[in-house]
Amino acid sequence: MKVVIGNDHAAVDMKMQIKEYIESLGHEVINVGIDKVERCDYPDYAYAACEKIINKEATLGVLICGTGIGMSIAANKVKGIRACACSESYSARLCREHNDANVVCFGERVIGIETAKEIVKSFLGAEYQGAHHVNRVKKIMDIEEGTYKK
Ligand code: RB5
Repeated sequence: MKVVIGNDHAAVDMKMQIKEYIESLGHEVINVGIDKVERCDYPDYAYAACEKIINKEATLGVLICGTGIGMSIAANKVKGIRACACSESYSARLCREHNDANVVCFGERVIGIETAKEIVKSFLGAEYQGAHHVNRVKKIMDIEEGTYKK
């Protein structure tokens, strides 16, 4: 699958390692992140990555910043994106299976590289389960569209 990866200056090293790791899992990686430690604004990279997903150039996305929080807040403002900030792999699997998340976020200042790899492996390896989750995800999309009815 095609996976887009993005990061800010706080996560250059982890991005490099995670990019290689995703490739070692057999996926193609589109890198839209910054490759040097030079202060920048994480929403620019969150948007660049989400654009690739919305335009169907990538299926899933991985966003890394200092905490994963800023990236997830920015990504969730893009229509059609469901981004989850995860610090462990169980949530990374469940956000695909139950929430149909298309972006996972985490922070280089929060977790170590092995946990980051576990998160990525779980996220990319899981599939949306549909079934009773469909109506719940539809309600999220209705909130996004402004068509949600109480
Ligand atoms: C950058 O200093 C930091 O604020 C950013 O990487 C991220 O953690 C924001 O949520």
